[in-house]
Amino acid sequence: MRLTVIGTGYVGAVHAACMADIGHEVLGVDVDAERTAALAAGRPPFFEPALGGTLQRVVDSGRLRFTTSTAEACRFADTHFVCVGTPQLPGSGAADLRHVEAVVDGLAAHLADAGDQPDQPVLVVGKSTVPVGTADMLARRLGRAADVAWNPEFLREGCAVQDTLRPERIVAGVRTPTAEARLREIYAPLTAAGAPFIVTDPATAELVKLASNSFLATKVSFINAMAEICDATGADVLTLAEAMGADSRIGPRFLAPGLGFGGSCLPKDIRAFTARAEELGLGESVAFLRQVDEINTRQRRRTVELAERLVGGSFADRGVAVLGAAFKPRSDDVRDSPALAVAEAVRRRGAEVRVHDPEAVDNARAAYPALQFALDVNKTCEQADIVLHLTEWPQYRDLDPAALATVVRTPVIVDARHSLDPQAWRAAGWTLRAPGRPRLG
Ligand code: NAD
Ligand code: UGA
Repeated sequence: MRLTVIGTGYVGAVHAACMADIGHEVLGVDVDAERTAALAAGRPPFFEPALGGTLQRVVDSGRLRFTTSTAEACRFADTHFVCVGTPQLPGSGAADLRHVEAVVDGLAAHLADAGDQPDQPVLVVGKSTVPVGTADMLARRLGRAADVAWNPEFLREGCAVQDTLRPERIVAGVRTPTAEARLREIYAPLTAAGAPFIVTDPATAELVKLASNSFLATKVSFINAMAEICDATGADVLTLAEAMGADSRIGPRFLAPGLGFGGSCLPKDIRAFTARAEELGLGESVAFLRQVDEINTRQRRRTVELAERLVGGSFADRGVAVLGAAFKPRSDDVRDSPALAVAEAVRRRGAEVRVHDPEAVDNARAAYPALQFALDVNKTCEQADIVLHLTEWPQYRDLDPAALATVVRTPVIVDARHSLDPQAWRAAGWTLRAPGRPRLG
């Protein structure tokens, strides 16, 4: 089948490459010409494991091309996936729909201009995360030019290709049997391999996405709230999480305590959901999400305060080494990165901060120009009074604590992600502290 993917960022580039990989003819469309040029050359403009190989293969095969032209998109296909960003509006926290609206208005203008009848009805399929009611609003905007469906995206950065090719579910929010049939046909290779295909209306599909992200965020904040209780009572949050997670009704995933959630989605999505619920007069129904958000941002503050106590009560003239800048490992995405928020807060309190990350240094430098960066862990830690382990890249687990102890000024480390071996670090002479594990300290 022929389809376009409009907006080729983290979601769109992966979707376009994977749709081509399962056999479709795909045209990726973006307003950013530099981005489309990189993608057309088979180079992902961001770090995502497994994307490079897939992209190169489908570009070489000719099944995936890129353009900046909406007119070309309208000539190429009758099915358009919309994957543009829906960032948080300052103030209200609501979703900014301007990019989604611009895409739909652009398509509407070209479809009206084209004059000739398309081979089949035009279908606009939203994948962006949007407030409930957006598909209906866009359908009114498009009028008779096109049908609208919503097919939310659930991929995780760092394993986006795998999540797209082997999804745990595909949700199709449709208004017509034609839209359902078209989406079934597009995803047939994935459903044949076992992916459940859930058909519903667009409003439910939009809500599945925001409800799922809100639930995941709630799980993380729940365990972080428990870490606070552990710190005050001498209990151990890792054992607590393990024992809770062993109950299959609770499950072990998304119960990793530490610095809390960041990234381009969970924080903005719970705020956008809250804003939309308030708009609908239903603020009370999701009031708990404000607390989820508060607990989450509090973990950043608690980490800064713990570090400040460990360096003697003041960061003035202290060297602080930060391991990790990305919002999570296996990604170079620094949008709302908890690690960088902590690094910047520590810098503002007077410390000299040096940050290391295996992939995200360029993005981090652009977002936080006042921080210093190093490409090498030893250089980052040289003469540090404290090391803060804030993003759990697997390579940090393999560091030699004895060797690193000879580099720093004082061997003190905060493992805010609970991924280092406390015994090994303490045996090498380090003071290691971790949130929710007071007996380590
Ligand atoms: P992104 O910012 O990485 O990419 C958006 C792309 O859209 C950019 O390349 C931008 O140039 C392009 N764009 C903007 N306006 C355009 C226009 N008018 N026409 C064509 N292209 C345009 O965003 P993302 O992280 O890929 O997220 C996209 C959406 O998917 C958001 O709603 C997000 O909440 C949702 N989502 C993201 C993820 C994720 O892991 N990043 C996962 C699931 C859902
Ligand atoms: C998240 C969801 O997991 C995806 O299903 C969804 O599609 C995506 O948001 C989205 O809508 O954009 P992602 O942001 O890529 O995916 O990353 P996650 O693996 O969910 O991690 C998010 C944050 O939570 C990270 O900062 C991570 O460190 C933190 N986290 C995660 C924890 O602190 N504890 C956990 O147990 C799990």
